Amino acid sequence: MTKTRALIEKLNREKQLEQEEWIFLLKNSDSEDAEFLFSLARKIAKQQFGNRIYTRGLIEFTNYCRNNCFYCGIRRDNRTVCRYRLTKEEILECCQAGYQLGFRTFVLQGGEDPFFTDEKMEEIVGVIRKGFPDCAITLSLGERSYESYRRLYEAGADRYLLRHETADASHYGMLHPPELSAENRKKCLFDLKEIGYQTGTGFMVGAPGQTPECLAEDLQFIRQLNPQMVGIGPFVPHHETPFAREKAGTLEQTLYLLGLLRVMLPSVLLPATTALGTIDKKGREKGILAGANVVMPNLSPVRVRKQYELYDNKICTGEEAAECRQCLSGRMEAIGYELAVDRGDYKEEKKNV
Ligand code: 5AD
Ligand code: FES
Repeated sequence: MTKTRALIEKLNREKQLEQEEWIFLLKNSDSEDAEFLFSLARKIAKQQFGNRIYTRGLIEFTNYCRNNCFYCGIRRDNRTVCRYRLTKEEILECCQAGYQLGFRTFVLQGGEDPFFTDEKMEEIVGVIRKGFPDCAITLSLGERSYESYRRLYEAGADRYLLRHETADASHYGMLHPPELSAENRKKCLFDLKEIGYQTGTGFMVGAPGQTPECLAEDLQFIRQLNPQMVGIGPFVPHHETPFAREKAGTLEQTLYLLGLLRVMLPSVLLPATTALGTIDKKGREKGILAGANVVMPNLSPVRVRKQYELYDNKICTGEEAAECRQCLSGRMEAIGYELAVDRGDYKEEKKNV
């Protein structure tokens, strides 16, 4: 057996590795090692979730952002973006349409938009909570204070997505302007967990300046945080950002990391992301077959979709919600899975019986 395979088996037994072992795994794998990892990851996902894929309806409700992350298409300095905000009524219409299509989780995602104060967000979360008592509400609003996170949790939010982006402080500094820090990002994540949110973190694969050492740190950080969800997708350049000319992350490396995450955290909720579907026509299917168990189609009104372009060539910007749902359920059925109609909450690991 190769050393790579021996380390994958060790990861499966012990659910953690030393920094040096992670680095070895990230630097040394051929396509057979990858296949070995994917079949193990798939087996684990099947054991935890059967052939059911959880869906979350994504509502991109504002593309205003006060931040200026170097990789992101809706960064403050991108003057070519036509900025929009959905009203509470429009957000509710998205939920209504989504509910009818079988979504039982709504993800409200936006840039860091100061317009959406705690009062406004409490109001929005409150009406969704009341109108859709059997649905989970996930927020993805970036960095806020402990108090703000607490108030939104009290208002009825269940989950929060905030990728740590990179666990390495100096790499974080290459991706973000100085007013943002890895330290504060991590603090937000621990706050969210403490408050009681099902918490999601994650990073971009192949971000400029990312090394195997950085990725090893990401995996160690994720092990330490022990989140309920992990979102990863390839970095994809956006033409109006400082990273316009950087190379995109690869399909192979993203799939490999999905597999490693599934083996490390058997019951984690792990989406096959839109970015993965953007760099490869079958990216999301391949993501599921590498261990992912969630898809997050878009519920935003079609007229704003093109304006929420974090990276170039983002898929599904022209389709109605119903079309995306249809398309995805067909794609999942074609590989032997089905879309689940339920909240798809995090559950502790089912142990081998
Ligand atoms: N390529 C891929 N993913 C990106 N994100 C932002 N910009 C890009 C890009 N150019 C990801 C970030 C962020 C999430 C909402 O989208 O990781 O946390
Ligand atoms: Fe949107 Fe296929 S998932 S069109």
